[in-house]
Amino acid sequence: MQENQTRERIRFRDEGPETDDFMAEVVENLSRERKTLPCKFFYDKTGSALFDRICELDEYYPTRTEIALLERHGGEFAELSGPACHVIEFGSGSSVKVKLLLDRLEEPAAYTAIDISRDHLIDATSALAGEFPELDVEAVWADYTQPLAMDREKENGGRRLGFFPGSTIGNFSPDEAQGFLERSAETIGAGGSMLIGVDLKKDEDTLIAAYNDREGVTAAFNANLLARINRELDGDFDLSGFSHDAVYNREHGRIEMHLVSERDQTARVGNRRFDFRAGETIHTENSYKYGIEQFQGMCREARYEPVRAWTDPDGMFSLHYLDVA
Ligand code: AVI
Repeated sequence: MQENQTRERIRFRDEGPETDDFMAEVVENLSRERKTLPCKFFYDKTGSALFDRICELDEYYPTRTEIALLERHGGEFAELSGPACHVIEFGSGSSVKVKLLLDRLEEPAAYTAIDISRDHLIDATSALAGEFPELDVEAVWADYTQPLAMDREKENGGRRLGFFPGSTIGNFSPDEAQGFLERSAETIGAGGSMLIGVDLKKDEDTLIAAYNDREGVTAAFNANLLARINRELDGDFDLSGFSHDAVYNREHGRIEMHLVSERDQTARVGNRRFDFRAGETIHTENSYKYGIEQFQGMCREARYEPVRAWTDPDGMFSLHYLDVA
């Protein structure tokens, strides 16, 4: 199928955030005593492409480990989900992993991809629609952490299967993760299920290397946040004045990414000015790591009943199949 034909075949729902939200959130977060920037803003076109490169790095074990788990256990997902599923992916990115799932499910009926990166979403769902000509494909440009109404028309009596791979849940605080689990269970609805990938706690050296790669791709991904502010919000950050740092915070069980100001400096965003002291950081991301039982406990607190959990032989990463109670 030609690409323009597949673009016509996908349905597009625009629930995208306004640019004003980006400006308001940047100003609010940089005005704090401890400066932060929300990691959801990493994923413009450049950031999404850099993230795809991170996923291929030797040091970044989560992607290849999760893919191996998806390949190894595809038959079990099909058996647990039954025929004619409607797969709903939260934060679909380049939709690579969902193809492994769709390939193994029994005649999946529909696929809804929800993502905050508009261009990436349209490109990825168009390509996927070309590869799965029988599938009803919908692209929803939205912040998937917010509640979403799902239209039930396209369902063929199959079950809804939520899919949230990549340990993106680790980028939420534990409270936000709990909130996401509750809202996603509501979106999926009783009788449906969820397949979710969660990175596991492990030795610090492995974790730090995964977020501080030798090639500097993660550093470029982090710095792109400032470049994006310069591009879209009329900012004047000097990118050479900030360096990438990744540390493991053992107390909270999370990797933290920071942009460290190399000197005393001032940056402008629109008509606002922000002062940085030498060594002061902008905290740009948390990536929480969980234990299997710890995560299952959180799921039970939401409306989920854990059905099965899988991990690789080295215990690096986990996949969880949950039923909505
Ligand atoms: C998307 N998310 C799960 C990635 C992570 O591992 O927390 C984002 C990332 N940040 C740096 N490297 C990868």
